[in-house]
Amino acid sequence: MSENSSQNTPSALAKLWGGRFDAPTDALIERLNNSLVFDGRLWRQDIAGSVAHATMLGKTGILTPDEAAQIVAGLEALRGDLAQGVVILPPDAEDVHTAVEVLLKERIGAVAGKLHTARSRNDQVCTDIRLYLRDECDNLNTKIAVFQGTILEVSAQHFDTILPGCTHLQHAQPIVLAHHLLAYYWMLERDRERLNDTRKRINRSPLGAGALAGTGFPIDRGMTAELLGFESVLPNSLDAVSDRDFAIEFLSFAAITMMHLSRLAEEIILWNSPEYGFVLLDDGVTTGSSIMPQKKNPDVAELARGKTGRVYGDLMSLLTLMKGLPLAYNKDMQEDKEPLFDAVDTLHLVVPAMQKTLATAQFRTERMKRATAGDFSTATDLADYLAGQGLPFREAHEIVGRVVRYCIEKKIGLEQLDSDSLAEFSPLLRENPDAALAVLTVEACVAARNSEGGTAPKSVRAQWILANETLDDPTNNPLTGNYRVE
Ligand code: ARG
Repeated sequence: MSENSSQNTPSALAKLWGGRFDAPTDALIERLNNSLVFDGRLWRQDIAGSVAHATMLGKTGILTPDEAAQIVAGLEALRGDLAQGVVILPPDAEDVHTAVEVLLKERIGAVAGKLHTARSRNDQVCTDIRLYLRDECDNLNTKIAVFQGTILEVSAQHFDTILPGCTHLQHAQPIVLAHHLLAYYWMLERDRERLNDTRKRINRSPLGAGALAGTGFPIDRGMTAELLGFESVLPNSLDAVSDRDFAIEFLSFAAITMMHLSRLAEEIILWNSPEYGFVLLDDGVTTGSSIMPQKKNPDVAELARGKTGRVYGDLMSLLTLMKGLPLAYNKDMQEDKEPLFDAVDTLHLVVPAMQKTLATAQFRTERMKRATAGDFSTATDLADYLAGQGLPFREAHEIVGRVVRYCIEKKIGLEQLDSDSLAEFSPLLRENPDAALAVLTVEACVAARNSEGGTAPKSVRAQWILANETLDDPTNNPLTGNYRVE
């Protein structure tokens, strides 16, 4: 036996279950078992849950009104002291639930021990997590909405800023910058939709499920649920204490949101490179190199991209943790908190950091436009023009293919063709070569794609208005069929 493992710490004070045991827990095992180091942050939720539980115990006559009042007053005073830092959670406590109860006992004496009547840490802990996540849903929702607001503001300046639109990272068709940025608006909109949906399933009460089988005390689960603002009571006590699907859903939301932010981050990194030069990032969101004085690195975007990996990991941790666990509570589930907290903390950092990056970015619109020169991205428009003149699209495609080859040989862009050379390729082009030439400018090309959701400045403005209304009024959302057409 190693020296360490034989050192026992007598910490009976900080245990809620000493009665059956002769010897104190091994020090190493204490460390393994301890969750206070990470679940300590749940003390507010733990106290809120206990206040509701004690109130209900008093109202139902399980405790006397006086006992309940003493417990509630003690918990409330404790809440104030913890918030002000007048007291701290006892570091030798096993977990947050123990810590709060130990502090309460110090304050109000033996009656504190009555708080745990008709309750187990198993229903207590998932009540705490649900209360915590419910708040974080709201906090993150607001941060994402702020980011969306920034996207709207930046987009509004770029309805006419043309840049190459890509597929396969190859120039495909010109688009406007507002169109590109608004794509992220809608991704984030769906992320908020997912978050709101997850919140509904988070907001159900497990309290009163006891350890697993319920309780013989005449509790009122509806009352505690109402006091805590839960929308309903989970109907099966085994399910209530033993599932973490709501946390997995939250982590799915987190992983998908990070995936979206990571794609934007990747584009910012590319656009900030000297080869693209589409964006200049603000000093406040970049860092320098200790060796290369010329460097200005897009660290925020790189970290957003990098941290996406750890949030995926958080989701995988919890999915793997829960897989194969028999009903009901198992201590494995204590491991649910760190991945959850990590994802929440990461989003709280990354969402506003990316928002700042975008809000302060300067777009180099001239370079964007120049990048479309000679890139043949209006070739489809010439084919569409010919198809519009009655030619089957396949034949039009063939003719334009020959035009492109001609330009490559001549080392010119499509927009540099003169009407005489263009007229050579088809009798249809000979009729009115100037009309055909007109479709070859990027402005015409962009303006022509005026279908709903398309890149024409007119269509993008309409999309922007829709987005703006959606953000202003979450019930007015085209994606959930609630959109009002005025
Ligand atoms: N710290 C524990 C957790 O996070 C609290 C529940 C303990 N339950 C138990 N039966 N030991 O899961």
